[in-house]
Amino acid sequence: MPKYYITTFGCQMNVHDSEIIAGMLETMGYQKAEAQECADLVILNTCCVRENAENRTLGHIGNLKSLKEQNPDMLIALCGCMAQEEGIVEKIRENYPHVDLVFGTHNLHQLPELIHKVTTTGSRVMEVWDSEGEIYEGLPVKRDETYRAWVTIMYGCNNFCTYCIVPYVRGRERSRRPEVILDEIRGLIANGVKEVTLLGQNVNSYGKDLEDGWNFARLLREVAETGLYRIRFQTSHPKDLSDELIEVIASHPNVGRHLHLPFQAGSSRILQRMNRQYTKEGYIDLALKIKAKVPDIALTTDIIVGFPGETEEDFLDTMNLVEKVRFDGAFTFIYSPRVGTPAAKMEDQIPEEVKKERLMRLIDLQNRISLERNQALIGTIQEILVEGASEKNESRWSGRTSHNKLVHFEPVIKVNPGDIAQVRICGAKTFTLDGELLG
Ligand code: 5AD
Ligand code: SF4
Repeated sequence: MPKYYITTFGCQMNVHDSEIIAGMLETMGYQKAEAQECADLVILNTCCVRENAENRTLGHIGNLKSLKEQNPDMLIALCGCMAQEEGIVEKIRENYPHVDLVFGTHNLHQLPELIHKVTTTGSRVMEVWDSEGEIYEGLPVKRDETYRAWVTIMYGCNNFCTYCIVPYVRGRERSRRPEVILDEIRGLIANGVKEVTLLGQNVNSYGKDLEDGWNFARLLREVAETGLYRIRFQTSHPKDLSDELIEVIASHPNVGRHLHLPFQAGSSRILQRMNRQYTKEGYIDLALKIKAKVPDIALTTDIIVGFPGETEEDFLDTMNLVEKVRFDGAFTFIYSPRVGTPAAKMEDQIPEEVKKERLMRLIDLQNRISLERNQALIGTIQEILVEGASEKNESRWSGRTSHNKLVHFEPVIKVNPGDIAQVRICGAKTFTLDGELLG
């Protein structure tokens, strides 16, 4: 049997797309390879949200050259968001002759016929659709885990934040039909899945393009009422997060007590330049309202430092917002200009060393708060979904609380991945908790 090896860069949408790619390949008779060196087909599923993601991918493609020299029959394919970027196909065609196949996010479903084309003609195939077509349902999925699953509820983004390339490479918002999503989830439950994460670039826009009055709050309620053990969702845009949604979270304990709500910047002036459509005060009010209605919620966020025109005062607004909201965690990024986005053309770009220095101050502040938020859980009993043993140390297992916090524990009694267990929290670090397994 021919073997495949997929390397995935970027977000959970890509991770899930790779599961669909694996599903299609296994239906074609391919088998997963243990390592890239033993594969007949190597696929890179790429991300282009920041320049460093792209550079890492280009480095990776460069490294594959020698592998291909050792094994000329190996097929090398590139797909994902980078493939949709303007100019990339030409760049690959000219500078990376060892790449045999390029396909985009909009024509993922064509993979079997594209592979067939490469193998039968022996020539390179570069097929990327410029715009999104209809949603392709029913593609096979080879999920990496048995107890936890990703379910895409919508594709694309209409928000056009001025720094972001996603709307250009993932197209406009398209919602999957609710009955298809619910059927998929019922099937997963029947197969023993305990936790589902609903995915979309902006899940709160779910249903706006459907005709029959569906919205995200209604979908989440229906998913919660399937009886699934735990439901998560990402990502939420503050401008679309409704009271109805907060109500659904509050009234359904099986909706994870965790909300990822990117704020990006604390200064209202910068938020306006980013086209985020809310102000600093608006975001803080929303965060405090959520915390009041769902007191045990853990909030996490994404923050960008060094957006064009960001002054020290603007940056201090970001620091101040972080102090006020007290997030459980944050992904912090240095602004990275992306060709084709409005912000890349703004004149007042911030020097790299200023960006780095601001990032360090922000990380220091957030790490202190993350640690304090974790320390507050010491002594509590938490229910976790067991994930498994650490790769490095078999006697150290981990699982996640409803807040999405990772708890390390020793398996003093037998547990399996996917089990639900109780732990007493006995220690806290910045990113993880330590617990004693109670059974
Ligand atoms: N530069 C830096 N960070 C970015 N993000 C998106 N585009 C950029 C960019 N050009 C960040 C945002 C988003 C996360 C997925 O990536 O914070 O929420
Ligand atoms: Fe990018 Fe903004 Fe859409 Fe998120 S909401 S994917 S940051 S354009």
